[in-house]
Amino acid sequence: MQFLIGLMSGTSLDGVDGVLVQNLSPSLLKTPSLKVLQHVFMPFDADFRAELLSLNTPGNNELHRAALAGNRLARSYAQVVHALLKASGMQANDIQAVGAHGQTVRHRPLEFDADPATGQPAVGYTLQLNNPALLAELTGIDVVAEFRTRDLAAGGQGAPLVPAFHAEIFGNPSHTVAVVNIGGISNISIMRNASNEKAEIIGFDCGPGNALMDHWVHLHQGKDYDTNGEWAAQGQVIDALLQSLLTEAFLHLAPPKSTGRDLFNPAWLQQHLRTDYQAVDVQATLCEFTAIAIAQDLKRHAPEAKQLWVCGGGALNAQLMSRLQAHAPGVQVASTEAHGLPPLQVEAAAFAWLAAKAMKRETGSLESVTGARGARVLGAIYPR
Ligand SMILES: Nc1ncnc2c1ncn2[C@@H]1O[C@H](COP(=O)(O)OP(=O)(O)OP(=O)(O)O)[C@@H](O)[C@H]1O
Ligand SMILES: [Mg+2]
Repeated sequence: MQFLIGLMSGTSLDGVDGVLVQNLSPSLLKTPSLKVLQHVFMPFDADFRAELLSLNTPGNNELHRAALAGNRLARSYAQVVHALLKASGMQANDIQAVGAHGQTVRHRPLEFDADPATGQPAVGYTLQLNNPALLAELTGIDVVAEFRTRDLAAGGQGAPLVPAFHAEIFGNPSHTVAVVNIGGISNISIMRNASNEKAEIIGFDCGPGNALMDHWVHLHQGKDYDTNGEWAAQGQVIDALLQSLLTEAFLHLAPPKSTGRDLFNPAWLQQHLRTDYQAVDVQATLCEFTAIAIAQDLKRHAPEAKQLWVCGGGALNAQLMSRLQAHAPGVQVASTEAHGLPPLQVEAAAFAWLAAKAMKRETGSLESVTGARGARVLGAIYPR
C-alpha cells in the first residue's frame, strides 16, 4: 500500500489544500488509481496573503522577502502535513513522499534568455517560493518540489501539469471529456480516447479564473471572495467592458500556452475600466468574462465534448457555474464532486500523484500539453 501527500497553494493565494491519498497504481481498468483519504485546508493569514500578493510584482528587497516567505510557506505546509497525519492516524514513515507545489510569484515561460551566440535553445522561467529542505526537516518525509522547472528547461511552458492526472481520473475511452480547473487562473484539459494507445490529451491555461473577481470584491467589499457569486449575480453585464476584456491577445493564442498574475492582474483590469461603471456591474462582467473565456476554448478545441467537469474553488461559485452552463449549451457542466473527487481536492491530489511519478522516475509531463521537446521526470527530491 502506498500513501502520499499533495500540497497545493495556487494563484488565488487563499491558502493550502492538502490531501493524503492512497495510490492504487498500477491502475486497474476503469478504476481510479488514487483515492483521497483526508483533506485539510489551511487559509493564509491576511498579512501573509498580502505579502505573497506583493511579491508577485517587483519590489524592495524582494530576494530577502521571498526567502522568508518560502520559509513561512514551508511551515504552513508542515502544519498541514501534521494535521493530515493526525486525522488519519498515520506516522511520517507511512508516507512515501510529499508533493509540494510552492507559491508561484512569477511565471514567464516566454521571457527568453535568448543569446543567439550560444546556439542553445532559449528558455523562459517560472518561480515557486518554497523551502522544501525545511519541509523535509519538519516532517521527516521525502519531499518532491519544483515540479515546473524541468519542463521549461525542455522547452515547455511548465504548465499546466495536471492534464495527465485529469486524464487518469476523469478520462473515458469512448467519449471526449473536458476538465476545467478554476483557481486563480483557469486551465482546461481535453481528453480523447483516454486509457488506450490512441489517447490524445491537450491542456492549456484559458485565462483568468477567480483572481480578478477576488481582487474586485476585496477592493469594494473587503471580502476575500464573492461567496457563491452572489454579488456578481446582482449586477448587469457591461457589454462594452466585456467586449474590451475579450480582445486580450492571450485568449486568441493557439496552445500550448500558460499565464498567471503576470498578465491577469489589477493593472490589466484597470486599462479596460471607465469611471462611470458601477462596481457591482464590473463584478458581473468579470464573472461573465471568465465563463465565456472557458466556454470559447471548449467550443474551439473540443466541440464534440458533452461533459465538462469543473474543479478548483470556481466550482463553488454558483453564479459562475450557471454562466458557464449558459455559454456551453448541450454540454453537461458539473462539479467534479459528482465524479467522487471534491473540487478543492483535485489539484492537491494531482501533486501527490506527480510526486509518486517522480519517486519512480516516471515522466509526469505531456509534450502535447506543454510543448516541451518530450515528457520529463518532474520535480526535485529532498530526502527525509
Ligand atoms: N463558496 C465560494 N464561492 C465563490 N468562490 C469561491 C468559493 N469558495 C472558493 N471560491 C474561490 O476559489 C478560490 C480558491 O480556489 P483554488 O484553491 O482552487 O485556487 P488556487 O489556490 O488558485 O488553485 P490553483 O492555482 O491550483 O488552481 C478562492 O479564492 C475563491 O475565489
Ligand atoms: Mg487554493
